Parts: sequence; C-alpha cells; structure tokens
Amino acid sequence: MTARAPGTAARLEVFPRVDALAHAAADVIRSAAADAVRERGRFTLALAGGSTPRAVYSLLSADRTFPWSNTEFCFGDERAVPPDHPDSNARMVRQTLLREDLAPPERVHRIRAELPPAEAAADYEQVLRALFAGATLPRFDLILLGLGADGHTASLFPGSPALHERSRWVADNWAPALGVHRVTLTLGVLNAAAAVLFLVSGRDKAAALRATLAADGDDAATPARAIRPANGSLRYLVDADAASDLDPR
Ligand code: 6PG
Repeated sequence: MTARAPGTAARLEVFPRVDALAHAAADVIRSAAADAVRERGRFTLALAGGSTPRAVYSLLSADRTFPWSNTEFCFGDERAVPPDHPDSNARMVRQTLLREDLAPPERVHRIRAELPPAEAAADYEQVLRALFAGATLPRFDLILLGLGADGHTASLFPGSPALHERSRWVADNWAPALGVHRVTLTLGVLNAAAAVLFLVSGRDKAAALRATLAADGDDAATPARAIRPANGSLRYLVDADAASDLDPR
C-alpha cells in the first residue's frame, strides 16, 4: 500500500464538460511554454497519447503565438506500430497538434515504434539523452498524461514489467490486458518532470481516478498513483463524469 506523500500536493480541477477541460489544458500548456522559453530558451514537452488529448492538441494547432520553434515535442509513450498505423500516437499528434505544420520537423521527436520494442526504447532513450545532455534524468518542463480505466498511465500498466524499471529512461513494456507491446517513459523520468498534467474525461475513468487520488492504495494495481513528481507540480484536469466517484468535499 502506498500513501500520498505529503510533499505531493496534487491540484485537482473539475470541469463541467470536456470542451472546457480542453480549453483549460491548452492554457496550461501555453503558459508553461511561455515560462520555459522565457527562462531557459526552450520548452520540453512530452505528449500523451490516446483520445482525450486530441481536442487540446487541435486547439493549439493553429496558435501562431505558441513557441513552435522553441519547443521540443516528445512522446510519453507509443504503441508498437508504424507511424502511419491508426493506433499510432505519432499519427494522432500529426493529425491534431501538428496538422498546420507550424512545428519544425527537427523539433518533433517521435518514438520509432516500427522497430522491435526493445530497440525502439533504446533508440528513443538516445534521442532523449541527446536532448537532455549530461542529465542523470531528463527534467521535462511539462509531461502530459492520460489515465486508463485500469489505472494505467503512459504505457505503465497494472502488473507490467516496466513499472519496476529503475535505470532505463525509456522501456519496452508488455500490456497484459491488451496483449500488446508498448514503448514508454519510465517512472523515474515521469517523476523528474517540473510539471505533470493529467487529462481525464469520461465516466469510465471514475473508478480509476478515485483509486489514483485516494490517500492509500496500491501503485502496482493503479500505476497512475506512482506519478508523484519529486520536485515538480502535479495537476489533474478532469471532467465531471470522470470525477463522479470522488468524495464531494
Ligand atoms: C496511450 C496513452 C495512454 C492513454 C490512456 C487514456 O498511448 O493510449 O498514452 O496512457 O493516455 O489510455 O486514453 P484515452 O485518453 O484514450 O482515454
């Protein structure tokens, strides 16, 4: 059982509908980008996959005030498929966030998941080690995460081997319930971020969100609980459906 460390002051914001959540998330990303570029000259962003972020990415896609040329677009995880596959997160991001071609190609760092999973993970780790040269762990300015109905986040699934990875930055992982391979940032990287932003919508996520936010629980059963940035902010932007199992107080 794990308890929420007192230092992890998570901030939860509930929105009546998913469109309001998307606008709020886009504003958080814009603000983080502006701060990072002002302070360090670049914004390092790890993108979430799945469907929830699509609306957020589409809102940002035509924003000419966004620092496209100063942002390093990375991925939190990827399915073990080629970039033109319908399940590819890189494909989803190309169709939404990057559809206006405002980001220079050299700023977009997809996971080459057309390679065998272990090779794709090693390859991506080299990409990140070049982006965060000399770092013991990469400190992303912002990592976007979703939440699966089973409590997974990125591609860290309940009972999956990558949950126990303590040295690699990027790992290949087996998703037992889905029977598929994935490539994912590991917990050390996720928890080294300056800011982590969860985007959660839908009633099917209500039980997982309750388990994630509960004071006590089991990280192995609900991997999203293990996201506790050691020296960073943790925010959950959720819609009312996803929050429907939470205690009202
Ligand atoms: C992925 C994601 C995964 C996702 C959750 C929620 O590659 O699918 O990284 O962790 O964020 O499964 O997905 P939805 O937003 O589609 O519900």
